[in-house]
Amino acid sequence: MEFTLNIPVKYIFGKNTIERIGAEIAAENVKKVLLLAGGGSIKKNGVYDQVVNSLKQNGIEWIELWDVQPNPVLSHARKAIEIVKRDGLEAILAVGGGSVIDEAKAIAGGFYLGDVWEAFSGKARIKKALPIFTVLTLSASASEINTNAVLLNEETNQKWATGAPSLFPKVSIVDPTVQYSLPWNQTVNGFIDSMSHITEVYFTDDIEISLELYEGIMRTLISSIKKLKLNEQDYLPRANLVYSSSMALSAFPRCGCGGDWSQHGIEHGISGMFPKIAHAAGLSALYPAWLEFMYPYNKSIFDRWAVKVFGVETFDEALKAFLKLLVELDSPYSIKQLGIKEEDIEPMTDLILQGGQPGKLKSLDKADIMTILRNSYNYKIN
Ligand code: NZQ
Ligand code: ZN
Repeated sequence: MEFTLNIPVKYIFGKNTIERIGAEIAAENVKKVLLLAGGGSIKKNGVYDQVVNSLKQNGIEWIELWDVQPNPVLSHARKAIEIVKRDGLEAILAVGGGSVIDEAKAIAGGFYLGDVWEAFSGKARIKKALPIFTVLTLSASASEINTNAVLLNEETNQKWATGAPSLFPKVSIVDPTVQYSLPWNQTVNGFIDSMSHITEVYFTDDIEISLELYEGIMRTLISSIKKLKLNEQDYLPRANLVYSSSMALSAFPRCGCGGDWSQHGIEHGISGMFPKIAHAAGLSALYPAWLEFMYPYNKSIFDRWAVKVFGVETFDEALKAFLKLLVELDSPYSIKQLGIKEEDIEPMTDLILQGGQPGKLKSLDKADIMTILRNSYNYKIN
């Protein structure tokens, strides 16, 4: 175990915290920001009003840019960088879910590059970035507390990631109550993405403290989503889900572990080729086939997962319990349910491999990826 833990994000959590955003920005000596947002959910649920009132009260000027897409796209990030340069903006304020925050990171880092895509294609490294502030409205990506960003190049369908220490948000405001307005499937997406962020690491790296922390987070995610299914506006399970989601992909429980990331690698091929498919819907559809494929490569940890997370004795029983949960939550368990066709599997595999072979438990070659995708396509529940 060897690692350096440095998470320089001021993470402000709880009810009525959005009103603090203006003061936090002013405290960083920033006077003019790009307010970046998605398709308008923040106007409907009152988050936008809370944010701009706070900006006004603290003398912060802003320019708005809307229409960040779920699975954010390169052309929009490029357009944003032009606006930031043209208007002399000093920081990015992301108000939304993972897509808005990821694009904010692309803008903040891309600002200092010849072209932002260089950071995602591996041609350049982000060394400097404009300050990033976030007001989180959907817990899934943990982008509010990590250094990662994912962007879709809509000309090539490559959905690739980048990361750099300078992409940590300076301040993230996390008010769980603003997630009451989420459609149910987005709450479920947040649960699935968070579970996957954990299992990508949990099954790969055998570090006791990490396993124990992750088991606690997974149990909390599961108990919280079950309670939310009964009442989506129940504050405590919502708050537990929200914080667990941040923890799931923060450096804190990870103890320097790298992880496997093949479920994500394959999924980015799905939402890269079909950008209307949400990241977590792709993960959900892959989950059963991916778990079954991976089991032989580290049986003892999968068996431990069954006991510690699901309270059952075998991996098979845990898989059944997890499938039952997916069905109860109305979350997909097969890529066929996403409208993907069998003939899409090979081009999708080729697209995935453009980013290199995913996986650490097993470095997945073309045959492996096609097996997982085919097994997912044909997945049936008895
Ligand atoms: O666009 P608006 O109108 O805001 O609506 C959004 C969007 O349609 C809506 N929404 C968000 N908050 C809401 C709300 N609707 C009602 N009430 C609210 N409070 O939800 C929809 C989905 O939003 P999006 O931001 O796309 O979801 P998510 O947070 O799941 O982010 C997905 C993106 O994150 C990337 C994914 O690949 C995907 O592009 N990821 C980023 C990671 C990271 N930075 O570390 C890691 C992840 O593995 C993931 O890859
Ligand atoms: Zn994810």
